[in-house]
Amino acid sequence: MSGTERVARVVAIIGAGTMGRRIAYGCAARGVRARLHDISEEALAGALVAVRALLETADEGDGPQAGARHGLVEACRDIEDCVREADWVIETVHEDLELKRVVLGQIGAAAPAEAFIASNTSSLPGSWMAESTGRPGRFTNMNFGPPEDLKVEVMGHPGTDPATTDAAKRFLRGLGLVPIVARREIQGYPTNRIWRAIKKESLHLIAGGYLSAEEIDRAWMLDWGTPVGPCGLMDVVGLDVVRDIENVYYKASGDPSDKPPGFLDRMVERGELGVKSGKGFYTYPSPAFEREGWLTASDD
Ligand SMILES: NC(=O)c1ccc[n+]([C@@H]2O[C@H](COP(=O)([O-])OP(=O)(O)OC[C@H]3O[C@@H](n4cnc5c(N)ncnc54)[C@H](O)[C@@H]3O)[C@@H](O)[C@H]2O)c1
Repeated sequence: MSGTERVARVVAIIGAGTMGRRIAYGCAARGVRARLHDISEEALAGALVAVRALLETADEGDGPQAGARHGLVEACRDIEDCVREADWVIETVHEDLELKRVVLGQIGAAAPAEAFIASNTSSLPGSWMAESTGRPGRFTNMNFGPPEDLKVEVMGHPGTDPATTDAAKRFLRGLGLVPIVARREIQGYPTNRIWRAIKKESLHLIAGGYLSAEEIDRAWMLDWGTPVGPCGLMDVVGLDVVRDIENVYYKASGDPSDKPPGFLDRMVERGELGVKSGKGFYTYPSPAFEREGWLTASDD
């Protein structure tokens, strides 16, 4: 299949926050109509501006011109209007099981019978949510990553129809992305669990006063040659989102070591959410780790 083959004409995205915007951009950049819905009118309006700005600055690539692509992104006040012509509906609301079940129920009731439904959840197994859709065979988890990450983890639940997984792979390939398909369901997706282990340990080291966020990132970037470290990456994800995800693991395991540390709650309460609020472990738009000489600077 060529990289530009389109296997979806219309994608509905429910939740127009960090990930909803990114997914909408990824669709429109490849010539696929992206219809966004959010319960917050402010978030919806902001999403339209943000996605169009991304399209404006992106390389032209082999898709339609930016002007034409602008028209591919739409904001819908009603969820029914948003999903009515969709081939795929992607749920990207907060990481809250009850909320997702409600929203997936609304999607299942309003989307065309042949539409596939995916949740972009980070930590909730699809089997906890599938029945809410009313079409569990056509439902799968599909975890898009942070900006610039081509990898998307696809993880069906035991009742996902294999044809749905095949359709998910074709859909993602059509968007120029690389699907990594889990062979069995596991909480949090297989490769995402690796990132989760790094995140959990980094938070533990900060909470215990062993290292600062900057020291962790500097060491990581020197060791692995990456442009950002674990704490900078948590800022990209959103510290509220990180906290919610850690809480899902904690609720599932009951293991006290899985409980997100108190300092994370306090940062979220202060509105320090990372890149999206301008402050998290670093301040944005010019975080310290991007400064000339920062990587080899001394903390003494
Ligand atoms: N942020 C990341 O890097 C990242 C990466 C992978 C997966 N995820 C997952 O993606 C999902 C969304 O995360 P995010 O970072 O985009 O969150 P976010 O907080 O930026 O956005 C969530 C949006 O959902 C909207 N919303 C809430 N209730 C709604 C409802 N009933 N109907 C419609 N919209 C509603 C909110 O208004 C908000 O705009 C979560 O499940 C998260 O775990 C996030």
